Amino acid sequence: MADVRFEHVYKRYGDNPPVITDLNLEIADHEFLVLVGPSGCGKSTALRMIAGLEDISEGNLYIGDRLVNDVAPKDRDIAMVFQNYALYPHMTVFDNMAFALTLRHTPKEEIQQRVERAAQMLGITPYLKRRPRELSGGQRQRVALGRALVRDPQVFLLDEPLSNLDAKLRVATRTEISRLHQATGTTFVYVTHDQVEAMTMGDRIAVLNAGVIQQLGTPQELYDHPANLFVAGFIGSPSMDFFEVNLHRKSDGHAEIVVGKGDDAQRLTLQGQAAEVATGQAPGVGDTSDGRPLIVGIRPEHFSLDGAQSGDGATISGVVDVVEHLGNEQLVYVRLPGAYVPEASETKGSTARVGASAKVSPGERISLHVDTSHLHFFDPSSTKSLV
Ligand SMILES: Nc1ncnc2c1ncn2[C@@H]1O[C@H](COP(=O)(O)OP(=O)(O)OP(=O)(O)O)[C@@H](O)[C@H]1O
Ligand SMILES: [Mg+2]
Repeated sequence: MADVRFEHVYKRYGDNPPVITDLNLEIADHEFLVLVGPSGCGKSTALRMIAGLEDISEGNLYIGDRLVNDVAPKDRDIAMVFQNYALYPHMTVFDNMAFALTLRHTPKEEIQQRVERAAQMLGITPYLKRRPRELSGGQRQRVALGRALVRDPQVFLLDEPLSNLDAKLRVATRTEISRLHQATGTTFVYVTHDQVEAMTMGDRIAVLNAGVIQQLGTPQELYDHPANLFVAGFIGSPSMDFFEVNLHRKSDGHAEIVVGKGDDAQRLTLQGQAAEVATGQAPGVGDTSDGRPLIVGIRPEHFSLDGAQSGDGATISGVVDVVEHLGNEQLVYVRLPGAYVPEASETKGSTARVGASAKVSPGERISLHVDTSHLHFFDPSSTKSLV
C-alpha cells in the first residue's frame, strides 16, 4: 500500500502539444481516486505513467517515498487492468489468473487460495477451467480484474474496466470493485469517462480535460461547487442547465437577471446570497458593472413546477419539448430563453426534474419555479465559477 504523487508532470509525444500538462496530484494511501474526463483527455496516459508503461517527459512521479521516473514497471509493485485487456487464449481462466504469481514462484497452495478467493469475489468460480474464448465479454472482463486482484499490489490501476459489460452487470461489478477496495485497503486509481461511475465509486475525483486537471475533490464537492463550466457540465446527469444572462442591481438591494433577448426576455429576481454573489458584494466576485454578462447554471432538480413549491425563488416559463417518464420522476425538456450549451454538456435543451404525477405535455407552456439559493454563476470569458 502506498500513496502516489505527480509533481509538475508533462507528457509529450514528439513536437505535438503536451497530452498531459503540469499534472500535480497526490493520491493518498488507501484512497480510491477516479480520473474522469472525455475521450482523449489523457486519462490512460496518466495511468500508464504510474504503471511505468509511458515515459515521463518532465516532472517527477513518486510511489510511496520512492521516485519512480526510471523504475521499470515490474519493480513498481502495481497491478493494472487495461482498457484493452488481453487474456492468454491457450490458458485456462485459472492459469490466466495465476500467471503473475507463477512467474514469481509463489507456493502452489497460496496461488490456489488467492485465485479461488478472487474468483469467488468476482463470481467466476464456475469458469476456472474454461478458456477465454468460452466466456462472454463480461466474464472475460472479470477474469482480467481477477488477474490483477490476485497480485496483492501496492497500487491497483484500473482503466475503464467496466466498458465491456452490459448496463446491469456494470452496476453490479461497480459495487464489487468498491467492495474489493474496502476489503483490500489498497490504493486504487480508476479511470473512466463515465461521470456516474466516478461519482459512485470515488473517494475523490480528478476531472481532466485536454490534459489539464480541472478540479479535484469529493463527489459532493464537485457536484455542489463545480470550479468551472466544464466541471459543472460534465458532473451530473442530466447535465446542469446553463443560461446567458445580464445582471442588474436594483435599488432595493435585490438583483435581477435578464435571460433571453427582446420579446423573449424574462426577468428573475434574486435575493439574499444569490444577489450578493451576482452583484459582486461577496468576496472575490469582481466586476459589479450594471448589465454585466454572466452564465448562470441551474441543476434540473432545482426547478419545480410552479405552485409545487413555496418560498424564495423566481419563475421562468417556456414551451415543453419532450417529456421522459422514468417511473419515479419525469424529465421535462423545455425551451427556455437564453439557454446556453457548453462543451461536454448534453444538448437536449434545458431539463427540469419533476415529480412522477405531474401532468405535462409536449407543446404546453409551463412556468417553472427556480430555487435561486442553488444558482451557480460563471464568468463567460474565463468560464470560472464566481464563488
Ligand atoms: N503513442 C502516441 N503518440 C502520439 N499521441 C498519442 C499516443 N498515445 C496517445 N496519444 C494521444 O494522447 C492523448 C491522450 O490519450 P489517452 O489514451 O490518454 O486518452 P484517454 O483519456 O484515455 O481517452 P479514452 O477515453 O478514449 O481512452 C490523445 O489525444 C491521443 O491521441
Ligand atoms: Mg483511455
